[in-house]
Amino acid sequence: MNTVVVGMQWGDEGKGKIIDFLCRNNDIIVRFQGGNNAGHTVILNGKKIVFHLIPSGLLHKGKICAIGNGVVIDPKVLIEEINALKKEGIEVSPNNLKISLFSHIIMPYHHIMDGLREKKRIQKIGTTMRGIGPCYSDKASRCGIRTIDLINPEIFALKLKDNLAEKNEIFEKIYGLRAFTFNDIYKEYNGYAEILKPYVCELIDFFYKLRDKKFLFEGAQGTFLDIDFGTYPFVTSSSTVSSNAILGSGLSFIKSNGIVGVAKAYTTRVGEGPFPTELDKTLGGYFQSKGKEFGATTGRPRRCGWLDLVLLKRAKILNNINKIILTKLDILDDLEEIKMCTVYKQGEKLLKEFPVDLSKAIPVYETMKGWRKKTENIRKYKDLPVEAKKYIEKIEKYLDCEIRYISVGEMRDAIIKH
Ligand code: GDP
Ligand code: IMO
Ligand code: MG
Repeated sequence: MNTVVVGMQWGDEGKGKIIDFLCRNNDIIVRFQGGNNAGHTVILNGKKIVFHLIPSGLLHKGKICAIGNGVVIDPKVLIEEINALKKEGIEVSPNNLKISLFSHIIMPYHHIMDGLREKKRIQKIGTTMRGIGPCYSDKASRCGIRTIDLINPEIFALKLKDNLAEKNEIFEKIYGLRAFTFNDIYKEYNGYAEILKPYVCELIDFFYKLRDKKFLFEGAQGTFLDIDFGTYPFVTSSSTVSSNAILGSGLSFIKSNGIVGVAKAYTTRVGEGPFPTELDKTLGGYFQSKGKEFGATTGRPRRCGWLDLVLLKRAKILNNINKIILTKLDILDDLEEIKMCTVYKQGEKLLKEFPVDLSKAIPVYETMKGWRKKTENIRKYKDLPVEAKKYIEKIEKYLDCEIRYISVGEMRDAIIKH
């Protein structure tokens, strides 16, 4: 069984924990989009490990992890991540980590450009400032530098020169900044290339030979940050939906037969953009502190709100999800009442279809009684409080989709099979 895992909201649904859990039954784990804007957390022996580029499957011995062509790589961050994992005693070697030679490299000018564009915009996106957007823009403009270019010093020099010729003019003339020096970047990035070269791989041939193994595709971000189907322009610069798993990896001979959507039991969002069920500081702040809702990458506080079933239904359809894993149910434990949005209104009219502009959608809620019991230590579905089971079953019914697992804590074993 090959599986694609995607986030059903605006990211940070707990994909890291779920991938770490699911990869026990898989052999090969592939990231297919995004970059180090992602932060996927796993708690290993009480220690928090945050993955930005490497699939969290690497924590398991004997698995092969791959960074696909659809990913944009900041080599400095990747090397730091490799070193940090090694320090924890985790094996990271060219045997278990493969980097697609077609992935694109984030350059110093991408970082700066991300920040400058954000500063100039009236309508801010609230990006992670990791250079993601500018790197994908260069890829589409055909002036990007791929991993295969990086590891060939002559080609790298040529492409870097071409890029700096254009970009330095922009930095100097439009933004009044100092130009980048070719030699500085060339030297720094050649150093990265030396370290990363052994990991670089032509993934298609390599995995074709292993096509009978079990593959798990690890999505980053979430459905509503998708460049096409998300809340544009408040989105990231890649396709986050399940159909990109194949394009972003090139593994079209791998037939995925399970598409797993990870959904948080409430909703969060980092950065700007519409968020119909967002709560004010009092209750939103409660979710924020109880759920430790601070970005795993940037540390920014996440905006918090009630569960939005209209949004989840849309995510189910967009990704063709056939199983859901619900996370962070434990964060709702102490609430007297729990709300879920079941339909949107615009003015006085109930909306029958998913709105093009989510900023005009007013949520209509159903209220359920809370369970007011600790769920963190429960491991069997039958032992969950009645109201918690009602909450879960209501979501299943609304979405017409089974919730296969429920996560009730950040620890690796805090998960319940349904
Ligand atoms: P990702 O980007 O989807 O991988 O999610 P993040 O790692 O950015 O954020 C999810 C946060 O919630 C992390 O700190 C996880 O350790 C934590 N987490 C995951 N599942 C649960 C859960 O069921 N309960 C609680 N309390 N925390 C969880
Ligand atoms: P994971 O994989 C939550 C958000 C940013 C911003 C928008 C664009 O951990 O779920 P970008 O830097 O990508 O150009 O920023 O997307 N964003 C995320 N939000 N989780 C993420 O990843 C995110 N990656 C990007 O906050 O609003
Ligand atoms: Mg995250």
